[in-house]
Parts: sequence; structure tokens; C-alpha cells
Amino acid sequence: MQNTSRFLTDTLRLRRQRLANLIDFPAILWSGSSSPRNFPANVFPFRASSHFLYFAGLALPNAAIRLSAGKLELFMNNPQPESALWHGEMPHREEIAQMIGADAAKPMAELELWTPGAATIAVQDAGSWTQQSQLLNRWVLPQKPPQGIDLELAKAIISLRLIHDDGALAELRKAAAVTAKAHRAGMAATTRAQIEAEVRAAMEQVIIAHHMTTSYNSIVTVHGEVLHNEQYHHPLQPGDLLLADVGAETEMGWAADVTRTWPVNGKFSSTQRDIYDVVLAAHDACIAKIQPGIEYQDLHLLACTVITEGLVDLGILQGNPQDLVEMDAHTLFFPHGIGHLLGLDVHDMEDLGDLAGYEEGRTRSNRFGLGYLRLNRPLRPGMLVTIEPGFYQVPAILNDATWRSTYQNVVNWERLSQFADVRGIRIEDDVLVTQEGSEVLTAALPTEASAIENLVSS
Ligand code: GLY
Ligand code: MN
Ligand code: MN
Repeated sequence: MQNTSRFLTDTLRLRRQRLANLIDFPAILWSGSSSPRNFPANVFPFRASSHFLYFAGLALPNAAIRLSAGKLELFMNNPQPESALWHGEMPHREEIAQMIGADAAKPMAELELWTPGAATIAVQDAGSWTQQSQLLNRWVLPQKPPQGIDLELAKAIISLRLIHDDGALAELRKAAAVTAKAHRAGMAATTRAQIEAEVRAAMEQVIIAHHMTTSYNSIVTVHGEVLHNEQYHHPLQPGDLLLADVGAETEMGWAADVTRTWPVNGKFSSTQRDIYDVVLAAHDACIAKIQPGIEYQDLHLLACTVITEGLVDLGILQGNPQDLVEMDAHTLFFPHGIGHLLGLDVHDMEDLGDLAGYEEGRTRSNRFGLGYLRLNRPLRPGMLVTIEPGFYQVPAILNDATWRSTYQNVVNWERLSQFADVRGIRIEDDVLVTQEGSEVLTAALPTEASAIENLVSS
């Protein structure tokens, strides 16, 4: 278990005081349990609930905290005597309570005495939400939108977690720095690698060596057109582009989320370079516009416009770029949103559906070009967002009879066929909204094509 610091306990105390200013009822947050892989003693790595981590700071399995009027009570059982044989001596409840600045520490069995009138947020694992439902005497389900005081609690926590405090930013900067190093290692390993898995290993090696984990399953693929590709067996062929979407997560759970796309042989072909520069222009244009008050959806539409203009200039799309965006022609090649919130979760607070991502009163659009937009709020200082435009040739989209007939006349299909060596490109950075504008937390990793080529060839 990591050592805690005065800075952490001060941060945690401030967070629960802020929560106490927003709600006048107690909240109980469960940490969750690990899930067995194939038999009970062989488990998937434990990941504590992010809402618990935000207030408790430590990834304690099978624990709960009760927050009331600025006070924190920790509920957890002490380790069984025989567990020392297998897991070593673990700190006891009272020591942990001291480490996180808790006001009291009690065994789990006492929690039921403290549940009346308490709100909660559903934890993802079934064992935990079943216990939450039993102890609170109502259904608490991850799939069910929160209601009543649970909804009030969710909104209060969202308002805190949306704007990162100094404690969060210190962690997010660490995750960003290690992620940038991991990507450099991946680029440097590529020319000697035979298959995708070797590049993944080089990247995750850096993350593991910093005593971190990945904040989501790494995507390291020559088939970048599969948006969340989690296969790593493909051979790396000269002429391929490798798309790596890999992010580190600190021990306290704070995430980075970065994508770079690079040529396997260290040199973009002219067609790859043309499209890469279109995606980069969209990335740069969005970041240049970030400042307090800007609507995130407008950044998405800006990316759509820049990508469409670039594809018109290359002769792939034909027509007036603004008209093409209005008819969603860009979504043939850029089918997802420009990004999302980032924090303790890589898609921060997505366990609450769109409650965090969408400003109150807004809902997802049915429009193909906007339906995958995960964030639709005006930006405020302290928010951390990703900017991740891309270009993909997805066979399921481009060969679909309906899409093809809808966009038959706006795509120059013959010209498009000349770009067959560009299956998927994405460029993703983590951008903090500041009072003055923005700060790219992942700026240590270049985006410019020739700099990427140099890193691959180095
Ligand atoms: N790494 C997942 C995403 O970019 O949303
Ligand atoms: Mn992302
Ligand atoms: Mn990503």
C-alpha cells in the first residue's frame, strides 16, 4: 500500500468539506470487490470505484466510507490472521483511517446501523451493488439512472469531479508524463518489432516500471480502423501505420489517454502524410480554440469542418465543406466524437451515463455526426478533456449499401481508393482548460509528422 502524505489528507479533507456544502444528507460510497477470473483465489486486478477513490484516496477492496457533514468514517474488516501467510502483513483499519485522515474506523458489520437516510452511487461489480441494494433497502443498479437523493449525490459529486483540484492535477500530470514516455518507447521499439504485441509490451513496460497500470486496455494496432481494437497479433509490415492508444493510470487511479499514429518503417507515405496532416490540422484547430466558455460541441463541429475541408482539398470529398458537414458526410471517415472528460476514469464519470458529460437539459443527438459525442458542456477552468480527431476507412461504413447510396455523389470513390494505405489515424491529447486558455498535459509527446518519424527512426 502506498504511503500517504499531508498533501493527500488535506486534499481529501477539502473534498469532503466541499461535498458537505452541497448536500445535507449522508453519503455512503463502496469501494467494490475484485472479481474471480477462474477460481476465487485467482482474481482480476482490483480497481476501486472512482467515487470512492476521490474521497478515500486509497484503493481499498471491500471497504466503504460514510461522508456526513464533512466527516469521513471508514468501514472495513481487518485482514484474517491467515491472510498474512499469502498476502503479507497488511495495515489494520485504524492505521488506514489515520493514513486517509478519517474521523472513525469501524468493521463492515456496523455499516448497516448507519445506512438510514444515506445516498449512494452504484458500484459496477455485482457483489457490491447487491450489498448496496440490501443495506439501503432499495435497488442500486449500475444500469439504472440514480433517483432521489442518489441523483442529488451524483450531481454534487459531478460538480466537484468536473473541476480538478490541485491534488487531482498533480496525479494527472504524473499519468500524462509516464504516458508520453510510454509512447516514445513504443515508437522506438517499432522498427525492431515483428508483431503489434511487441510494441504494446514496450509501451506497457514503461507504465509498469513506474508502478502504474494502464487506464484502459491498450490499443496498439495496424488496424486502426477498428476503433477499440484489442488484438495484438498482427504482423507489422513496411507501409503499415500503427495506431497506439495507450494511457497510464496512477496508483491513486488518475488517468491519461493518448493516441499517436506512426509509420512502421519510420516514413509516412505521401498519402499517409496527406491524411495525417488533415487530422493534425483538426487537432491543432480544436486545441487553439479551447478556453473557458467555449462549447465542447462547437470544438467537435470545428474538427468536422477542418477534416472535411482537408478531404475536399485532397479530392476525396466533393462539394462545399459546410454543406458536407451539415449532411454528415465527414462521419463516413470520422464517426466518433472529438473526445470526452478525463479524470479518475478514462471516460470520466461515464458510470453515470450522460449526467456528467451533458449539461443539464441537454441530451444526445440522433444525428449520425453527433450521436457519439460524449461531452456537451461549455468548458470551465479546471476541466480536463481529450481532443482526439481521426480518419478511418471502416469497411462496415464504407461498404454499407445505405451509406454508399446516401453519399454516392459526394465521395470520389476512385480517388479514395488511392488512399488504401490509410486505414486508421487518430491523434489524441489531454488538454486542461485554464483561466487563460488551455494547457496540453501531454505536450511532451510531439504530434508533428516529421517529429514522429524521427522518434520511430531514433
Ligand atoms: N482510449 C479510449 C478513448 O480514447 O476514448
Ligand atoms: Mn479518449
Ligand atoms: Mn484514447
